[in-house]
Amino acid sequence: MKTLLSELRQRAVAELTAAQDAATLDSLRVKYLGKKGELTAVLKQMGKLSAEERPIMGQLANEIRAELEGTLETKKQEIAAKALELKLQSETLDVTMPGKKQELGRKHPMYNVLDQIKEIFIGMGFEIVDGPEIELADYNFTKLNIDEGHPSREWTDTFYFTEDSKYLLRTQTSPMQVRTMETHPLPIRMLAPGRVYRKDEVDATHSPMFHQIEGMVIDKGITMADLKATLNLVVQQIYGEGTVTRFRPHHFPFTEPSCEMDIQCHKCGGKGCPTCKGEGWIEILGAGMVHPKVLSGCGIDPDEYSGWAFGMGLERLAMGEYKINDLRLIFENDERFLKQF
Ligand code: DAH
Repeated sequence: MKTLLSELRQRAVAELTAAQDAATLDSLRVKYLGKKGELTAVLKQMGKLSAEERPIMGQLANEIRAELEGTLETKKQEIAAKALELKLQSETLDVTMPGKKQELGRKHPMYNVLDQIKEIFIGMGFEIVDGPEIELADYNFTKLNIDEGHPSREWTDTFYFTEDSKYLLRTQTSPMQVRTMETHPLPIRMLAPGRVYRKDEVDATHSPMFHQIEGMVIDKGITMADLKATLNLVVQQIYGEGTVTRFRPHHFPFTEPSCEMDIQCHKCGGKGCPTCKGEGWIEILGAGMVHPKVLSGCGIDPDEYSGWAFGMGLERLAMGEYKINDLRLIFENDERFLKQF
């Protein structure tokens, strides 16, 4: 029995020492130390031994059990430590690796122009106001004296949301005139820049979304002279001192009288060239005296108060300022384009 035991011990220790993973280790535990294990099987034969031999063999068997259990435990810890090390190795963070570079952005050229204009108007005491792009037809048209049946209300020109033509994407920033008059105390000096939408195909000069800047002044005793003086002052600051301007009669339903403002072509000095399409003048905005019907519709007495308003396209202004020849460049956000400003 002694040889049997020492042979078993040798074999078990060798196998345990060679084990590489927890599963093998566990099956070895069952194989040798389990209820039906080999050591247990040997112990079961103790009864056959003589009374002198039994305690000696019993002690030996216990020593072997203790040794195997010890080896098993050591090995178990060894395998766990190795697994942890492997895990740590596979998850190491190389802090010396170069990081992802954050590129510093810059202001879009069109917003450069917008900010410049805002500054000019803020300097004259105007307040910047913001309003909804999803607008009521009432505000976009009716309250601006643009009645049912007016061509600009056509479904072919305007993006409507509902069959009843009540909700739409605003086609102009002019509804901000009404919204401001309805909510702000008098007198009013406001500037309302923002996006507007029309059913236009995209090409070098058209887009279904573009930007306008609306401006309006309402106070006692405001006349066309205030309109001309203020807009002339603004133009001198945008296009440079000495820029020649003219006001042409025009028609807008929400202003009376109405006009368009031109600047003399800065390229050819009025002789006519490709920039001004041979005209010598470049149209920059629409304006006029706020229609008495619009004033009274907003609860303002036209006998007591008067005002002037203007609306201007922003893209065209930016294109002129930065010599951009295609409107699409403004919206494509190609970095090669944007990095130039
Ligand atoms: N809303 C007009 C348009 O989109 C522009 C305009 C003209 C605005 C005259 C005004 C104005 O405030 O007085 O064509």
